[in-house]
Amino acid sequence: MILAIPDVLTGDALATARAKIESATWIDGKATAGHQGARVKDNQQLATDDPAGREVGAQIVAALQKNPLFVSAALPLHILPPMFNRYSGGQTFGTHVDGSIRTLPDGRRIRTDLSCTLFFAEPDEYEGGELIIEDTYGTKSVKLPAGHLILYPSTSLHSVTPVTRGTRLCSFFWLQSMIRDDARRALLFEMDVGIQRIAADSPGHPGVVQLTGVYHNLLRQWAEI
Ligand code: NI
Repeated sequence: MILAIPDVLTGDALATARAKIESATWIDGKATAGHQGARVKDNQQLATDDPAGREVGAQIVAALQKNPLFVSAALPLHILPPMFNRYSGGQTFGTHVDGSIRTLPDGRRIRTDLSCTLFFAEPDEYEGGELIIEDTYGTKSVKLPAGHLILYPSTSLHSVTPVTRGTRLCSFFWLQSMIRDDARRALLFEMDVGIQRIAADSPGHPGVVQLTGVYHNLLRQWAEI
């Protein structure tokens, strides 16, 4: 499932966060690429220990933990600290798959089930820079307004098209979900959305309690925590 999460950051919080990362120290993105990625990766990043990156990263995670759409769709168990990249002057990231295992700051290893990209620049500020995601339903081209996030399976092949004008500025990160399987996670999400709709239309309908029970009992059967 590929899902856009609107308005993760908005207004002053978005503007302040963007200013902080724009004025931080940018390094060659190849520094953090694996041997597959280094061949096709041409961008800039903030170092993982950059103070501005850490601060804004914590702000992003805090915002996501309070975002009902994100929590319902991702069912996150561990979220890696957000990283930041930018592309300009024709920079691009060719087709690749993200590494399957990454390490949390405390040394624990996590499985990357879902990849996230949070956009910091508005689409009309740059030319190109689409995130191209290949999944089982075909190829999707993604370029979202500033403050919006795209959530997609880490199993997908993906790329970033060359940025030929302006600068594409994003945060990117991974998470391990309580539900490893994308199809099961999508079923739970659809069910949650359906329950919320019925509850909104018919408050107090006894079927809502029954379906909520089914939701939690499926989660109980499938969750790995
Ligand atoms: Ni990637």
